[in-house]
Amino acid sequence: MQVTIFGTGYVGLVTGTCLADVGHNVVCVDIDQAKVEGLNRGVIPIFEPGLEPMVKANHAAGRLRFTTDAAAAIESGDIIFIAVGTPPDEDGSADLRYVLEVARTIGRHLSRPAVVVDKSTVPVGTADKVRAAIAAELQARGADIAFEVASNPEFLKEGDAVNDCMRPDRIVIGASDPDAIEKLKRLYAPFNRNHERIVVMDVRSAELTKYAANAMLATKISFMNEIANIAERVGADVEMVRHGIGSDPRIGWHFIYPGAGYGGSCFPKDVQALARTAQHHGVEPRLLNAVEAVNEHQKGHLFELMARHYGGVDALRGKTVAVWGLAFKPNTDDMREASSRRLLAQLWEAGARVRAYDPEARQEAQRIFGERDDLLLCDSANAALADADALVVVTEWKPFRSPDFARIRGALADAVIFDGRNLYHPDEVEAAGIAYYGIGRGRSIGLD
Ligand code: UDX
Repeated sequence: MQVTIFGTGYVGLVTGTCLADVGHNVVCVDIDQAKVEGLNRGVIPIFEPGLEPMVKANHAAGRLRFTTDAAAAIESGDIIFIAVGTPPDEDGSADLRYVLEVARTIGRHLSRPAVVVDKSTVPVGTADKVRAAIAAELQARGADIAFEVASNPEFLKEGDAVNDCMRPDRIVIGASDPDAIEKLKRLYAPFNRNHERIVVMDVRSAELTKYAANAMLATKISFMNEIANIAERVGADVEMVRHGIGSDPRIGWHFIYPGAGYGGSCFPKDVQALARTAQHHGVEPRLLNAVEAVNEHQKGHLFELMARHYGGVDALRGKTVAVWGLAFKPNTDDMREASSRRLLAQLWEAGARVRAYDPEARQEAQRIFGERDDLLLCDSANAALADADALVVVTEWKPFRSPDFARIRGALADAVIFDGRNLYHPDEVEAAGIAYYGIGRGRSIGLD
């Protein structure tokens, strides 16, 4: 099938590449000329495992093209995806400016019937706005062309996006027109082998499904972080509690890891946007507000533990802190809403210096923080330890999982680790002569 995708960000690029990989003809459109030129030369703007060779292979095979020419791309598309960004506006609602701009562009250039599909995470009711924007442009030029608007939310996880896209656990199609549903089923047929993964529903339910999925996952994390904070104070170990509850299939093992708070481009934004949608429709989002508030608090927890260890914020002045991990999670260079950003801001405000290492996010950190006297971006985990007083682990990258504690003991002036992802066993760290603080592990903070 002929597929056009607006937006070569995370969602658009991964979706386009996977659709091309199963044999569809895909044209990706972006307004960013430099990005498009780069992609045509094989320069991938994001770090995502497995993506680069797939882009190159499908581009070389002629099934995947990148262009800034929206008009031509619209003319060639049987199915036109909108996968542009929906950043939060001032009150946390999703800003539909880019989505609606693409809709107007489609209306200006549509020359034959097509199905327009919202892939971006958009508030309930957006498909109606997209439909109206396209219709207005068609009317303005006196064109009478049939089109349908469907919702087909994405469920990609950064770091595992190619796999999620090639082997989805479900494909949600929100549409009412039988032809549009049929076309989308045909598009996704190569991903729907062995058992039925396609769930067809009305457009509004599909739009809400995406928010409900992310809000549920964020809720599990905030819940566990709250349990961790209780565990810390009552002298329990949340890791034991996690093992004790995860085996119940009604609870499950996934997304019950306490930590330094959730970040990324989805959870913080989507929880807020769903809360705003609820309010606009007269529903008080008590739980969603609490999920967000717990997470905001949790992002400051590592710093709280540090201040507690040192006997107050003032004692951090002049300290040098090694930070392992800057990305919001492993296998990505993405630092959007990352917990590390809060920690670094707090450390700097307290007058501490930071030596940070992240396997992928160095360039991104450089871009975000620029040159600063109180930040050194290091080339290795060991380099970050040199001349440091304390170590904080913020992202659970695999190479951080089993470090040489004797070496850490030798490098750190204060011999203390703050483990924001509970990677280590407290006994092992303490046996190496290092003080240990995890998240929700009561014994290390001393009981009230
Ligand atoms: C998420 C959803 O998982 C995905 O389905 C959706 O399409 C987009 O949003 P992503 O933002 O890539 O994907 O990250 P995810 O792996 O879900 O992690 C989000 C954050 O939660 C990370 O900061 C992670 O460290 C944190 N997290 C996750 C926890 O703190 N504890 C957990 O148990 C799981």
